[in-house]
Amino acid sequence: VKPLAEFLAEQQSLIDTALDRLTPSESTLPETIHRAMRYSLFAGGKRIRPILCLQGAAAVSDEAPGVVNAACSLEMIHTYSLIHDDLPALDNDDFRRGKPTCHKVFGDAMAILAGDALFTLAIQTLVRIEGLDAARKLALIEELSFASGTVEGMIGGQVTDIEGEHQTPTAELLDRIHRAKTGALLRASVRMGAICAGATASEMAAISSYGEHAGLAFQIVDDILDIEEPSEALGKTAGKDVAQGKITFPAVYGLEESRAMAQRKCLQAHQSLEPFGDRAIRLHQIADLIVERKA
Ligand code: IPE
Ligand code: IPE
Ligand code: MG
Ligand code: MG
Ligand code: MG
Repeated sequence: VKPLAEFLAEQQSLIDTALDRLTPSESTLPETIHRAMRYSLFAGGKRIRPILCLQGAAAVSDEAPGVVNAACSLEMIHTYSLIHDDLPALDNDDFRRGKPTCHKVFGDAMAILAGDALFTLAIQTLVRIEGLDAARKLALIEELSFASGTVEGMIGGQVTDIEGEHQTPTAELLDRIHRAKTGALLRASVRMGAICAGATASEMAAISSYGEHAGLAFQIVDDILDIEEPSEALGKTAGKDVAQGKITFPAVYGLEESRAMAQRKCLQAHQSLEPFGDRAIRLHQIADLIVERKA
């Protein structure tokens, strides 16, 4: 088996090539919006969601028509959520993916529109998949729109996160925020891969359980890194959660217990993969990477 770092670099470049093909060029009119969308899309993210999508498919089958488009649609939604998360009206961040944030470079209006545009492009990217039956395309759209939405989805989580600032950080609120703002899209990532691969109901249940646990671990670690790592390593402003009174895992449980909880989620993610055997080797490695990462 190829070393993980090499494998991930290949997957990232596959995703970047596809994103480039699917996104209007900088010279397409009106130019400003396409420059803003591309600026944030290609600023250098880890591409963890698209890779989870590709590997969610690989765990089920070698044949997964449309999976590259599905993977790209997830990165489009994720990048949109980051652009909006950084706006002055939300987290008010100047630094993202190692560069000035979208609104710092293009202004608030264009950053809002670039986020909106990445959302519509994500849906178009799914609708235009070739070689996948209409029922499965609809299932992909249902999955992505639900995970991005207001009911237990990304936007709902962002609302609870914003409204939670300077409120008493309870375990119940924390769980609700993290499942929704980050967990939902990570869970959808592996599920969308599995849909393309034609997963059975029991495979779907197993992959969902993996996504749910890995997704929670991911945001627990994001909260820990915000405290422990410098901005230069993160490519985004460190220490913001405490400054903004956010409800985070360390705020509720402390750093040490948060680390232990991330480890437990990781273990549960591994256990969920049992039905897939060796097909899930990369998903196992990604679960470990999620808790061991430093950025
Ligand atoms: C950051 O996501 C925002 C969260 C949901 C925690 P990532 O850590 O995946 O950011 P990129 O895509 O690598 O920039
Ligand atoms: C953001 O969570 C989750 C999103 C839906 C974008 P954070 O606000 O913790 O993400 P970072 O730390 O700014 O990347
Ligand atoms: Mg935020
Ligand atoms: Mg933020
Ligand atoms: Mg964070």
